[in-house]
Amino acid sequence: MLGNFSYSNPTKLYFGEDALDNLSTELQKYGKNVLLVYGGGSIKKNGIYDKVVAILNDCGKTIIEDAGVMPNPTVEKLYEGCERARAGKADFILAVGGGSVCDYAKAVSVSVHCKEDPWDRYYLRMEDVDNEIVPVGCVLTMVGTGSEMNGGAVITNHRQKLKIGHVFGDNVFPKFSILNPVYTYTLPKYQMVAGIYDIFNHICEQYFSGEDDNTSDYIMEGLMKSVVHSSHIAVENPTDYEARSNIMWAATWALNTLVAKGKTTDWMVHMLGQSVGAYTDATHGMTLAAVSLPYYRYIMPYGLEKFKRFAVNVWNVQPNGKTDEEVALDGLAEMENWMKEIGLVMNITDLGVTEDMIDGITEGTFVMDGGYKVLTKDEIKSILKESMR
Ligand code: NZQ
Ligand code: ZN
Repeated sequence: MLGNFSYSNPTKLYFGEDALDNLSTELQKYGKNVLLVYGGGSIKKNGIYDKVVAILNDCGKTIIEDAGVMPNPTVEKLYEGCERARAGKADFILAVGGGSVCDYAKAVSVSVHCKEDPWDRYYLRMEDVDNEIVPVGCVLTMVGTGSEMNGGAVITNHRQKLKIGHVFGDNVFPKFSILNPVYTYTLPKYQMVAGIYDIFNHICEQYFSGEDDNTSDYIMEGLMKSVVHSSHIAVENPTDYEARSNIMWAATWALNTLVAKGKTTDWMVHMLGQSVGAYTDATHGMTLAAVSLPYYRYIMPYGLEKFKRFAVNVWNVQPNGKTDEEVALDGLAEMENWMKEIGLVMNITDLGVTEDMIDGITEGTFVMDGGYKVLTKDEIKSILKESMR
């Protein structure tokens, strides 16, 4: 049964090859000083930077450059961005990049006028925003996180060995996001497939929870099938517009809050993956891939019905003559085959995790209670150990 909920999503999306044409109309709604946030330089190589800067100049904006947002943005970079935004009196933040750049822009947005340390307030204490927010818009170049249409902003603190995501409210969601699938063509294959698995796992996190007959679960099965189908095409031919656009659109729907409405959710793979990320700085989607199968095989008996349904409806496993457990395991075996086929990293050792890190990663893993099994620290440790192979 669907629980009670309210639903709205304030982000306006522009999708397609001509999506950037809408940037100037959107920019006219905001003040003159624009903090232009981007990463390590991919947008300069593929020409997106020049296009965006030309539009900003045409609109008469003053650009405050904030380059060098790293994958898994750090708290030190967040402090630096706040300084830049304050010094330039930023009226608006334009993020041009992937989830890291969009997340960072949202974190700066809520922190510029925050009277205390934003890491303590928003990440350690998970408090709400009660100060002025600098509005954010996104031009997306990497697909996976859903950051373009949600309030998530994940920040890493290497000193404290913590990677934490705060999910902010509607007022922090991007005001608009520009999604042109062609911009993702230049992604290295490693990033493309990591993003594909991030999408798939966002859906799993919301699917593997609860047992009810729920419309969201049918939507999620459709999204998962679309992602798997398009992933094969995109790996073969990265410039297949249909596949890249389907992946881009599925990513947005996988984590724009819709499919979680009225149901419980899990998020333990992300908690494990984020803790691995805090120790290794590895690519987000790969951290999820590397811990997923040991986790799902472990919790499968506690959510057998749903794992069976996943096997049949997503992976077309034939259930006849098999026990429920055999069907469920066949589904996970199909998922494993797919993950290997598209080239995901399948263990945390390959991401740089060593034995001596396991206790710390275990400690840094936040325990969620919405999945089929609330894990103890010992169970987390044994899943992590299993993920090393
Ligand atoms: O920095 P540049 O030079 O731009 O290179 C980036 C980066 O190295 C590159 N890239 C991006 N677009 C490109 C491109 N290279 C060539 N062509 C392009 N068009 O790709 C690399 C990875 O980018 P990044 O933004 O780090 O990837 P992703 O989008 O996966 O974002 C990861 C971050 O998002 C967080 C993760 O934890 C991680 O910190 N997440 C955010 C979520 C949210 N907001 O809801 C949820 C997710 O679960 C996730 O936790
Ligand atoms: Zn994710």
